[in-house]
Amino acid sequence: MLNFIKKAVISNLILVLLIFLAGCADNASDKKTSLQSPVIPAGDMLAMTPPMGWNSWNPFGKNVSEQVIKETADAFISSGLKDAGFNYIVIDDIWQGGRDTTSGLLYPDAKRFPSGIKALADYVHSKGLKFGIYSDAGTMTCGDQPASYGYEEKDAKLFAEWGVDYLKYDYCYCPDYASLNNDYKMAIARYKAMGDVLKATGRPIVFSICEWGPRSPWLWGKEVGGHLWRTSYDVGDKWDEPRNESSQIGILTSIDVMLNLERFAGPGRWNDPDMLVIGLNNSGFIKGGGCTNEEYRTQMSMWCMLAAPLMMGCDVRNMNDVTKTILLNKDIISIDQDSLGKQGFRVYRKDGLEVFKKPLTGNRIAIAFLNRNSSGKKETISFKEMELESDMIYSVYDVWTHANVKQPSGMLSTDLKSHECQVFVLSPVAK
Ligand code: GLA
Repeated sequence: MLNFIKKAVISNLILVLLIFLAGCADNASDKKTSLQSPVIPAGDMLAMTPPMGWNSWNPFGKNVSEQVIKETADAFISSGLKDAGFNYIVIDDIWQGGRDTTSGLLYPDAKRFPSGIKALADYVHSKGLKFGIYSDAGTMTCGDQPASYGYEEKDAKLFAEWGVDYLKYDYCYCPDYASLNNDYKMAIARYKAMGDVLKATGRPIVFSICEWGPRSPWLWGKEVGGHLWRTSYDVGDKWDEPRNESSQIGILTSIDVMLNLERFAGPGRWNDPDMLVIGLNNSGFIKGGGCTNEEYRTQMSMWCMLAAPLMMGCDVRNMNDVTKTILLNKDIISIDQDSLGKQGFRVYRKDGLEVFKKPLTGNRIAIAFLNRNSSGKKETISFKEMELESDMIYSVYDVWTHANVKQPSGMLSTDLKSHECQVFVLSPVAK
């Protein structure tokens, strides 16, 4: 009997031990799986880096036409824009001719788009580029054209049939458009209505939310199917202007609005401070007075530091050399397109000089010095002040002169003209 009890205890112990070991092995293999073969998220892999392209609004507004779009696509190839990474060609507002009263289908303006939108999308695709269009979540677009409220499914299907790859979706004339209560729920419902039916088409379509920021789209944009969301009102061709009821904002204001939004950005989800005004030189549709070449260069630098979508807004068929040098700088573009997908953030601010930091792949860091002053600024700032490891040694590469620069250890020196932005990529060499 005693022997029997002993045997039973021992075999139970062995069983418990085996179960315990099996559990350990299971845990170990779990760990192995999660460490060695990361699960690739299924589904939406669009806009893994900030979208790059061109939009018709700034240069052409209501004068956009199929001829302009075709010539723009041609210019993407001939000027090297496609090679530099720009690929979406987006027609903004006022392409519409109306909505057919029988079928309920949107149709384009027959004079400016005589071949129809499908043929135009085919042309853009034939150049290896992607095609985008514009609509609005309200009853009319901002340019008073028929919009998608109540027609979401019909419009999404039509866009997919036309071969649309990108939809910019505005917020004018939504039920709460003019009210001051900034109804989050209304905006979420209207954008979800389009986000859901876009997804249901099965066509990969980048969904660009254009609510301008008052209802904090960074909080819900991804959830309703968005890949990018405007953070501000329209940026005009001007350096510094806060919003008032009758005007666009300047480049500086748009940068300021992006502050503290970095935690909402990442692959597939981008804060959008609006389009580039580089190369407009006070021409085209939106005007604003124009910026200096230095200010245009600063817009490019800061948009890239902020991991912003790079949607060009000038007539790329007629770019001057300065515009080309700015837009085609692959070094600054690679900061924007870095696959880590981090939005840069401000780490230093004193006497109109600001420093931004953007973590990059390979433990590299981009550092930008922005001079907001109307006079030059010379400064040496320690690594500590810029929230960098004090004892790290970096090689320092200037992305505008395309050369490594010598810097004192543990600090960076900068000598900036008025409104200039200098950008360095720091690569760790030793500690
Ligand atoms: C709004 C948008 C702009 C542009 C116009 C078109 O103002 O913010 O970017 O799309 O509408 O009407």
